[in-house]
Amino acid sequence: MTVIVHISDLHIGSGSFSESVLMDAIKEINALAPDMIILTGDITNRGYYGEFVKAMEYLNMFKSPLFAIPGNHDSRNLGNQSFEELVGERSWKLTKDNEFTVIGLDSSIPDENRGHIGLPQHLWMEHQLDDCVIAERFSIVALHHHVIPIPNTGRERNVLSDAGDILKTLTTHEVDLVLCGHKHVPNIWKINDTIVVNSGSLCSNKLRGKIGNSYIIYNINDKEIEVFLNHVGGEKFLFGKFQRKY
Ligand SMILES: [Fe+2]
Ligand SMILES: [Fe+2]
Repeated sequence: MTVIVHISDLHIGSGSFSESVLMDAIKEINALAPDMIILTGDITNRGYYGEFVKAMEYLNMFKSPLFAIPGNHDSRNLGNQSFEELVGERSWKLTKDNEFTVIGLDSSIPDENRGHIGLPQHLWMEHQLDDCVIAERFSIVALHHHVIPIPNTGRERNVLSDAGDILKTLTTHEVDLVLCGHKHVPNIWKINDTIVVNSGSLCSNKLRGKIGNSYIIYNINDKEIEVFLNHVGGEKFLFGKFQRKY
């Protein structure tokens, strides 16, 4: 079984960032010892270089390999350059044991809140997904902005501006899992054979109603994908269970 933890929206550097919640989450996630952690952006609050330096001190406390993509907040104030220097590539692909592929996309635009993938990155993703289909490899795509509007988030403003085209590529390639953040509200949509999961915020108190800080755990075995919603220091429950196609 492969275990993946999905975290998002840390907002380190903001007044809404809770260090104690982050430390609790790091402890919980290290105890789970997942195969990898995927962080879907808004690591920092303003994209400041110093915020990234501080963020790396925390991220280095995770014992599992961690792969991150930037959010809109990370791409403010030349944060896109700081991200590359201190965190890593803004778009990437990794394949593990020829069993599954994870594609990370940069949906941010410097100093803007809206999300956009753009044609060059879209074509690159499509090419990688063609390979996954041919090799019958489990595929995961991670990006910050949501591809589909999320319930209980008020007026829709920041869905990807090229969401329709991206969604078409994701579903026609039967991508198994799409991981997003941004709205600070956990959610699952299933469209055709593609499961689209939004993680809530791990440790920012910019939250809606009684929705707390949380992260997602994926238990992936030969037959099925179990998705768990874990509240930091609180209840954990099965969020969804799906059959695998390969
Ligand atoms: Fe955020
Ligand atoms: Fe965001």
